[in-house]
Amino acid sequence: MRTQVGIVGAGPAGLLLSHLLHIAGIRSVVLEIQSRHYVEQRIRAGVLEQGTVDLLVNCGVGARLEKEGLVHRGIELRFGGRAHRIDLSALTGGRAITVYAQQEVVKDLIQARLAAGGQVLFEVADVSVHGFAGGAPLVRFRSQGVTEELACDFIAGCDGYHGVCRQAMPAGALTLHEKDYPFGWLGILSESPPPSHELIYAHHERGFALFSMRTPSLSRLYFQCAPGENPAAWSDARIWSELRTRLGNGTTLQEGPILQKGVTGMRSFVAEPMQCGRLFLAGDAAHIVPPTGAKGLNLAVADVRTLAKALAACYADGRTDLLDRYSETCLRRVWKVQRFSWWMTSMLHRLPDEGPLRQRLQLAELDYLAGSRAASTALAENYVGLPFDD
Ligand code: FAD
Ligand code: DHB
Repeated sequence: MRTQVGIVGAGPAGLLLSHLLHIAGIRSVVLEIQSRHYVEQRIRAGVLEQGTVDLLVNCGVGARLEKEGLVHRGIELRFGGRAHRIDLSALTGGRAITVYAQQEVVKDLIQARLAAGGQVLFEVADVSVHGFAGGAPLVRFRSQGVTEELACDFIAGCDGYHGVCRQAMPAGALTLHEKDYPFGWLGILSESPPPSHELIYAHHERGFALFSMRTPSLSRLYFQCAPGENPAAWSDARIWSELRTRLGNGTTLQEGPILQKGVTGMRSFVAEPMQCGRLFLAGDAAHIVPPTGAKGLNLAVADVRTLAKALAACYADGRTDLLDRYSETCLRRVWKVQRFSWWMTSMLHRLPDEGPLRQRLQLAELDYLAGSRAASTALAENYVGLPFDD
């Protein structure tokens, strides 16, 4: 088999890259170890930045997103018994976020690729990448029991944190920055209306809680828990009680059947550079943010936007300068988004290793945010998404 760009992983990064390359007239093959059904049902993020929405709409995969996505112009912060609304749109010249589930973005992209005759191979096994340090990159994999080789000009490692592409880079080629937080999130999807029509980020002495949604009748709720918490140890009644306590008095939390329950770890991680020869990393393969700023998916989108432009310039005009600067361009955004995600996380969570002084400082920071237009603007412009670098 031969293609121009071999893409490992059919998450948002790999699929969007394949779609953007197709628009630029560049051929690609996407290889995915999971089934189509699995990736289309995998419940993860739900908040799209304005720039992510604009990109998806402009590249022709935004029809359902525009119809079904919930546009939010503000978020609420709860702390110390108070509620404070951050008016995202007023503070950012009219920008907003859209609530639309990651698996819906994935469905839309798969449909677009297959409708255009794109090759997305699901349920492949034993994927390995070779030859990227020289001029002949190759992806080896098994499909339906047969070993295949995909020769290509470039390889895009869009295979997430546990993927093989980053691991294939030679020791010493990468510097890894990593921090694990001493807490996780227990998340549920519930058939019940959310407590508010906007997201609520709640600071509470028992720990952080987040009240989000997927539709007006489907809630996505999270609360801070121990990092390795067993979700089975949390009965539905105990989950609702904890969420009610952290939401505080004055707002009713409607309970409904819990459709899904899971625990997510919290990590800040960056691998740099995001390139080794003709192998480029994008999305979670190169970096992980703690989810408090709702940035993981958006950062993956920003990476592949940059990579698609650089590859297009290379194929169209023989220019390699954008490809050479790929890592540098992405990492400027990555580190700013890491900072924001770390800041939101540190401000809102109960920090088990730190005492009451730290909690008072968090409350003072939230109070300052609520009272300062400058501080609120800083939050808002990061939350709706920083401008693309190029
Ligand atoms: P992924 O979506 O991970 O896609 C990588 C793909 O590569 C997967 O389909 C995987 O099956 C495939 N793959 C892996 N190894 C191989 C291989 N060897 N060969 C071929 N394919 C391979 N972000 C938020 O903002 N809010 C959230 O609430 C949130 N919740 C999350 C919950 C979980 C459990 C996880 C893991 C992440 C969550 N994130 C969240 C982060 C967000 O979902 C990711 O940042 C986003 O999925 C990144 O997209 P990606 O395409 O880079 O990686
Ligand atoms: C959601 C997830 C987040 O991490 C976040 O900060 C906001 C919303 C969500 O899944 O809806």
